[in-house]
Amino acid sequence: MIKQAIIPLAGQGTRLLPLTSVFAKELLPINGRPGVEYILNECIEAGIKEIIFIISQKKLMIKKYFYSDTFYKNIIKKKKDSKVIEEYKKILKYKKMIKFVYQNKPKGTGDAVLKTKKYIKDKYFLMLLPDDLIMKYNCSKSMISAHKKYKSSVMASMNVKKKTVSRWGIYNLSKKISKNNFLIKEVVEKPSIKNAPSNKAVIGRYILPKTIFKKLLHQKPGKGGEIHITDAIQSLINENEKFIAHNFAGKYLDCGTMNGFIKSNIEIGKL
Ligand code: G1P
Repeated sequence: MIKQAIIPLAGQGTRLLPLTSVFAKELLPINGRPGVEYILNECIEAGIKEIIFIISQKKLMIKKYFYSDTFYKNIIKKKKDSKVIEEYKKILKYKKMIKFVYQNKPKGTGDAVLKTKKYIKDKYFLMLLPDDLIMKYNCSKSMISAHKKYKSSVMASMNVKKKTVSRWGIYNLSKKISKNNFLIKEVVEKPSIKNAPSNKAVIGRYILPKTIFKKLLHQKPGKGGEIHITDAIQSLINENEKFIAHNFAGKYLDCGTMNGFIKSNIEIGKL
């Protein structure tokens, strides 16, 4: 069973400047809700019981968002507003499930994952990247089903335009397993068009094995000087760990870039 999820939230959000100079991008409202709440709801619906947030000292406002008890209690005491009570109950539900760990230097997603090492209990865990919203169908839930069926690690995947490959982790498949599931042969972080093995991109949902921590401990910085989860995944593939790419059914929204963020607001408003 996959019971734990981790969410890296220490990123600086440079692609969303100026919105992120004083504000955490994951709290920016998307159709009236902080983006991170969509991610939390996806986890809860997929049966996740504990969620580890990787934040930084600079992004303490994320923790504050879930620890504003005095603020809510004072308002509720003065005025028994049912809408406020409802919001507070939701925050309390989230808070109960969340643990916070810190990544104070932005050294990459792989480094963020490593910070959760001593908290991961089971053989596999889920990771969600909050820039990627997947609406309408619960991607994590269908990935957990694929994990159970194929007894393997899983990554969400989608075909992208060839000219955009350098924005993503790009993989090559060795075998089609079923209509939406493919065995991965190789995965490369943000390749140039010339070096891209395909136009199949990894999207921010991963079911990772606990053995990834051993790889991350020795992982050298890769593209852009950062420690990438993609490189650690490739090391595991080299040692015959089975990784499956799962083409998800939901609607993908890229909230990590300004254009994508603006579009996401419009698209979610339409759902
Ligand atoms: C990260 C991963 C990349 C993946 C992407 C999905 O990149 O490193 O492999 O394709 O998420 O959104 P980032 O968005 O952090 O640049």
